[in-house]
Amino acid sequence: MFDLAKIRSDFPMLRNGIQMQGKPLVWLDNASTTFKPDSVIEAVTKYYTEQTSNAHRGDYDLCHNMDLAIAEARKTVADFIGAESREIVFTAGSTESLNLIAYGYAAYHLQAGDEILLTEAEHASNVLPWFQVAEMTGAKVRFIPLTKEGRLTSENLAKTITKNTKIVAIAAVTNVLGYIAPVKELAEIAHKNGAILVCDGAQSVPHLKTDVRDLGCDFLAFSGHKMCGPTGIGVLYGRYDLLKETHAFLTGGGMNVRFKKDCTVDVYEPPMRFEAGTQNIEGILGLKAAVDYLQSVGMENIERHEKELKRYAVQKLQETGMAHIYNPDSESGIITFNIDGVFAQDAATLLNSKGIACRSGQHCAKLLNDFLGTVATVRASVYFYTSKEEIDALADAVSHGKEFLDAYF
Ligand code: ALA
Repeated sequence: MFDLAKIRSDFPMLRNGIQMQGKPLVWLDNASTTFKPDSVIEAVTKYYTEQTSNAHRGDYDLCHNMDLAIAEARKTVADFIGAESREIVFTAGSTESLNLIAYGYAAYHLQAGDEILLTEAEHASNVLPWFQVAEMTGAKVRFIPLTKEGRLTSENLAKTITKNTKIVAIAAVTNVLGYIAPVKELAEIAHKNGAILVCDGAQSVPHLKTDVRDLGCDFLAFSGHKMCGPTGIGVLYGRYDLLKETHAFLTGGGMNVRFKKDCTVDVYEPPMRFEAGTQNIEGILGLKAAVDYLQSVGMENIERHEKELKRYAVQKLQETGMAHIYNPDSESGIITFNIDGVFAQDAATLLNSKGIACRSGQHCAKLLNDFLGTVATVRASVYFYTSKEEIDALADAVSHGKEFLDAYF
């Protein structure tokens, strides 16, 4: 059963009466980062108070126990997305995961004349590494056209892909408009044309049930902190045969079997090949606790609640008569809008003055603003612990949009 009051009581940031500007905090920046339940905080604390040890580097019990705990966490994450443990690489977050694919895989597999397909709706983390790889290899970056509402369709991929396309890299859910990409169909089209599909799952894995085998994506990147886990921990899922062909992006201790004075290095098989240096152990343990927590709530419940909140938010914002919403029909819990006649960052300042946290600006997706025909937007993003009362607070604040100058004085 989905019990919102019980869920909210699990989160110190929601139950402790936190205020902003002297008002109860209304957190609507969940696409940016999320709050942590007690179980995640306890997992991190327990590591520091009862379990501190390095991993894979000691022949004593504490270290061995940590090896086992990390293996267990890897299995939990793998099961969560329908993968095998050996296909899960712990990284610092989606950004590092995408960079690892770009520099460890693509840089070694692309050549002049090859194509990388992106969309204008991508986050910088799924654009800039590809620009670099294109420069390094002579490959060309091209863009799959979006529909006029900003959606990526399989038809548009089919029209854009060519025999030269080697990589299609797209967000499974985009971080500004929140459209859910038809990943399964995109993967089929990519594969039929001899390309691989790289998914930025930063905004999808925390919100939607994910099964990489069913989706058919070849790589998937996501971040712990956007799914109730700690910051500084993330995941790269890679199909094992592709991970085997991927080079280490970081080298050092923990990823090599041996190295010699003649500069030869034998590296471990994936995933350890990609986890040089001491792992982010507290992050890995916290991420496991976060996945356990999400599963106890139920991904179907999470998705259903967020969709309901999205519909409710669109209706409430439309009722104010003050908001231009850019994505009323997108399926996820991201609502991107401007208050009529008010610059987005002024609007966010007004919301702040009422205790409401929303992101404003370009949201790291700097190619999208031309597409939207605006320099900046306000983004409200919900999670499964968001309440309708919080949406009401947002709508009420937006209805006072003309008073935004009051927020400064
Ligand atoms: N990638 C995060 C966002 O879209 C920070 O807000």
